[in-house]
Amino acid sequence: MRPSDVLSGEHRVIELVLACLERIVQDGERRGRVASWPAAEALDFFRTFADRCHHGKEEKCFFPAMEAHGFPRHGGPTGVMLAEHDRGRACVRGMSEALEAAGRGEAAAVGGFADQGRRYIDLLRAHIEKEDHCLFTMANRAFSEEDQRRLLAQFEQVEAELMGAGAHERYVEMANRLAQQLGVEQQAGVGSGHGCSHGR
Ligand SMILES: [Fe+2]
Ligand SMILES: [Fe+2]
Repeated sequence: MRPSDVLSGEHRVIELVLACLERIVQDGERRGRVASWPAAEALDFFRTFADRCHHGKEEKCFFPAMEAHGFPRHGGPTGVMLAEHDRGRACVRGMSEALEAAGRGEAAAVGGFADQGRRYIDLLRAHIEKEDHCLFTMANRAFSEEDQRRLLAQFEQVEAELMGAGAHERYVEMANRLAQQLGVEQQAGVGSGHGCSHGR
């Protein structure tokens, strides 16, 4: 398994929770009130799994390895990806700020939550598509076997330092539980591991 396969596997889990968020937004608009509990869990997932764990691996390991091979950050592919990560963080902050009042059914907050939610869903789906189909292909052409091995070891370090033992698996379980409870169809291949050192 290459480092890009680990990241693509995490994209499938993130897409599942994006589908959950889409359901939360649609239901919230229909009922005039955002369901606080699934929304809070989804936001926790985006902050911890999508941002700290997944974007952490990209920003601390994968993108710098690409830049070491001559891909420029400024005006280059990793710079575009980093800017999109930042825009995503702003959307998650916007949803978090709106959630309490949106949960009480205040119309402006429900609208604000839905706007930020849709922006985030569109942004991340397009971002994932670019990484899966363009960025990772470019990187894999440039990376040596040694680069790939070193990156997998660095991913393990990110998991240990930024997430802690068992946290990755807990968030994958959370994603699956949310999908089940919201009636969102699960995609094949959303497993529980992070694919680095579990023999996958
Ligand atoms: Fe990314
Ligand atoms: Fe990604």
